[in-house]
Amino acid sequence: MLTSLINLKITEHQNNLTIQRPASGLSLQGHISVPGDKSISHRALMLGALAKGETLIQGLLLGEDVYSTASCFRALGVNISQLNAQQVRVQGLGLGNLQEPVDVLNAGNSGTTLRLMLGILTAHPGRFFTVTGDSSLRLRPMSRVVKPLQQMGATILGRQGTTKAPLAIQGQRLRPLHYYSPMASAQVKSCILLAGLMSEGQTTVTEPALSRDHSERMLDAFGANLSIDRETHSVTITGPGHLQGQTVIVPGDISSAAFWLIAATIVPGSNLLIKNVGINPTRTGILEALSLMEANITIENQRLIAGEPIADLRVRYSSLKACEISGDLVPRLIDEIPILTVAAIFARGTTVIRDAAELRVKESDRIAVMATQLNRMGAKITEFPDGLEIIGGTPLIGTEVDSYNDHRIAMSLVIAALNATDKTAIHRAEAIAISYPEFVSTLKHISGQGFKSQ
Ligand code: S3P
Repeated sequence: MLTSLINLKITEHQNNLTIQRPASGLSLQGHISVPGDKSISHRALMLGALAKGETLIQGLLLGEDVYSTASCFRALGVNISQLNAQQVRVQGLGLGNLQEPVDVLNAGNSGTTLRLMLGILTAHPGRFFTVTGDSSLRLRPMSRVVKPLQQMGATILGRQGTTKAPLAIQGQRLRPLHYYSPMASAQVKSCILLAGLMSEGQTTVTEPALSRDHSERMLDAFGANLSIDRETHSVTITGPGHLQGQTVIVPGDISSAAFWLIAATIVPGSNLLIKNVGINPTRTGILEALSLMEANITIENQRLIAGEPIADLRVRYSSLKACEISGDLVPRLIDEIPILTVAAIFARGTTVIRDAAELRVKESDRIAVMATQLNRMGAKITEFPDGLEIIGGTPLIGTEVDSYNDHRIAMSLVIAALNATDKTAIHRAEAIAISYPEFVSTLKHISGQGFKSQ
């Protein structure tokens, strides 16, 4: 039977996605767009909440992580309403006016929600907050933001020596800080900048390499007093700031586009146009890596919308060669390493990824999970403490694999399955809804009649 293009099984007991490619003739074709950028979506809701007046957000990502941010800020007294499929309105309370919630704030699976929110909440004098997350987020390290906030005078207590959520916060008047961050992390940088926005004086964050700069761009657009030193990777904010509500147009998420960039590159005969993708240079490491690998990608129709660069990406099938990824490139493609690992399986030669130990503390241990799950399918991947070695050119054979409840792992395994013989069953694929609820329907759309139902 060829009626169903892809067999998506979702039952109460088993959230599996099963994929079997046809013996021949599969190619990915068409024009698509991807959902709104997740990092920008979180920030638009948060800055909208802290601003005076109304913020209109166009193209907000309607994924579970962003719903977590919306529900936390609603519990803090902010009115957030969805006007239609495209537009969300935030009624800002003005700086320092979030209300004490009556219950625990739950950030779900979202590290960005929890870490950025900590910077905001700790700077609300006289109010008490408790924050937590799901079982994955409760395992993730929080000291990277707790320590600098404590240096600013924050009162935070939590599990395991205040390194893990749940955390309890007694809001304080904070003092400014010059923080030399040991890691290139946009979550750390943004958390401190938000705390600095609400403190009196100059707060500076200096990072060892440049992490994504969406907070800086959006704070500037909302009227904060910000200066950037590109030589030293430093940002200074002068508080207390005043934010004014804005219209934010959220570009398509390059981290979501990455799945299609690699899918079309590895599936013979493919030709896709991905429209309206954010190409902020702090996020385009994936394009640089794929260029090193000799992928066939062109950047068309470049423009600047609401302070963020956007383009359409044309990708055609091409044979790939291995590459080495390390150093300053890593923070600019950190979320794309799972799907890049899939690309490397289909490249000539051995790809080496280093300096990426951060992957071990993402939604899952992405180094271990990618190596074990793809090796189950026949890949030749070796783990390093801080990366992976992938020997390209080994064919994949479908089998049972597990996402470990990690959205980017689940989608990477789906793309790997497109080039595997036999059937691949991806367990716990429902995690995809964290960042890309339309992923499977887009796959059906671009794969035409290529898939066989069971
Ligand atoms: C994010 C920053 C990155 C990234 C995460 C989103 C953000 O994390 O991996 O998915 O929106 O600030 P780190 O800042 O921890 O590197």
